[in-house]
Amino acid sequence: MAQWWSFRWQMVVIATVFMVFLTIPGRSQPQTNVLIQACSTVNATNTQIFFSNLNETFRDVRRKLSNNNTYFATSNLTRNSEPVYVMAQCRKYMSTSDCLGCFDYAASSIRTCATFNGARTVLDGCFLRYESNSFFDQTTLPGNQGLCGNRTSSRQSAFERAVNGILSNLSIATPKINGFYAAATAPVNGTSNTTTAYAIAQCAESVTPDGCRSCMQVAFNNIRSCATDVTDGRSVDSGCFMRYSATAFFRNNQTTDIAPFLLEGETSTSLC
Ligand SMILES: *[C@@H]1O[C@H](CO)[C@@H](O)[C@H](O)[C@H]1NC(C)=O
Ligand SMILES: *[C@@H]1O[C@H](CO)[C@@H](O)[C@H](O)[C@H]1NC(C)=O
Ligand SMILES: *[C@@H]1O[C@H](CO)[C@@H](O)[C@H](O)[C@H]1NC(C)=O
Ligand SMILES: *[C@@H]1O[C@H](CO)[C@@H](O)[C@H](O)[C@H]1NC(C)=O
Ligand SMILES: *[C@@H]1O[C@H](CO)[C@@H](O)[C@H](O)[C@H]1NC(C)=O
Ligand SMILES: *[C@@H]1O[C@H](CO)[C@@H](O)[C@H](O)[C@H]1NC(C)=O
Ligand SMILES: *[C@@H]1O[C@H](CO)[C@@H](O)[C@H](O)[C@H]1NC(C)=O
Ligand SMILES: *[C@@H]1O[C@H](CO)[C@@H](O)[C@H](O)[C@H]1NC(C)=O
Ligand SMILES: *[C@@H]1O[C@H](CO)[C@@H](O)[C@H](O)[C@H]1NC(C)=O
Repeated sequence: MAQWWSFRWQMVVIATVFMVFLTIPGRSQPQTNVLIQACSTVNATNTQIFFSNLNETFRDVRRKLSNNNTYFATSNLTRNSEPVYVMAQCRKYMSTSDCLGCFDYAASSIRTCATFNGARTVLDGCFLRYESNSFFDQTTLPGNQGLCGNRTSSRQSAFERAVNGILSNLSIATPKINGFYAAATAPVNGTSNTTTAYAIAQCAESVTPDGCRSCMQVAFNNIRSCATDVTDGRSVDSGCFMRYSATAFFRNNQTTDIAPFLLEGETSTSLC
């Protein structure tokens, strides 16, 4: 059975809900499509104190995310011997209000984990996790996986090539970018017209560049096979996230110039 980021976890809910969200770039879009949600199997020692501490750390994380241009926040609190560690992250194409909307949805959805001392949920727009011990340095763990959308009827070679190209480029560039996030597009040459492939990659900002790099490699391997005949896919792991789609889920002016990170790094890092 697949393990979800740590051995003491059991898979409680795996929701690969690929609902069609008509993405209208520029409009309010908290992207609350839940990709994965899971609870710890261990109850908090003292649930009253633990959840009181959790509520306070959630408020602290939310306060941090409400600052413009803040997409990542951690908080921890140990009071009355009930430590709580919380991490939240929004995709950087989200507006501050959409980020908070996604966080609120995640925080409320994660309450279904009731008395347990840990929970996590990954949505298209954001990520939220809490535990009774620190996990901020975790990158790739068992349970990492690719989530392919619905199959389409046919093989789509040009699209697959384009997606592989962007995701490969993103997995190289993202660990070198301050903030560990990049968004890119690539043209897809069809027989009669040209369309666009969209992709993003992101690591938790609390990991090291090497940690981000190893997480990206796993994520890329998990997601690449989706592109053979599926127009959208995601890759989830403890410390990173990837997504591609044939449909825009960020605006055209929100891409990252990754070219500089592809030029210099490759030769120098491969010599190490
Ligand atoms: C994917 O397939 C499921 C089951 O056939 C269907 O309910 C769902 O609407 C489909 N989703 C998309 C994005 O087409
Ligand atoms: C956790 O706590 C709930 C409610 O107090 C209880 O019903 C349940 O049996 C406990 N589960 C474990 C695994 O201890
Ligand atoms: C924490 O917040 C939730 C939701 O607002 C609330 O239902 C719960 O009673 C709070 N728990 C504690 C211990 O304060
Ligand atoms: C964030 O930016 C908006 C618009 O630029 C501004 O109105 C708001 O005051 C800013 N909020 C904070 C907390 O800086
Ligand atoms: C926990 O929070 C304190 C500040 O409140 C901080 O100094 C410490 O580094 C945090 N621990 C972790 C593991 O981030
Ligand atoms: C990946 O990066 C290389 C080097 O900059 C570039 O030539 C190529 O077009 C990129 N591929 C895609 C699909 O963007
Ligand atoms: C896509 O088509 C354009 C024009 O038809 C061509 O210049 C370009 O090289 C093609 N790109 C790929 C990756 O095949
Ligand atoms: C481009 O071609 C694809 C399939 O080849 C088709 O689904 C799509 O509607 C076309 N787009 C335009 C704008 O013609
Ligand atoms: C990006 O495009 C949107 C509309 O598509 C526009 O409202 C916004 O101001 C643009 N941002 C920048 C930085 O150009």
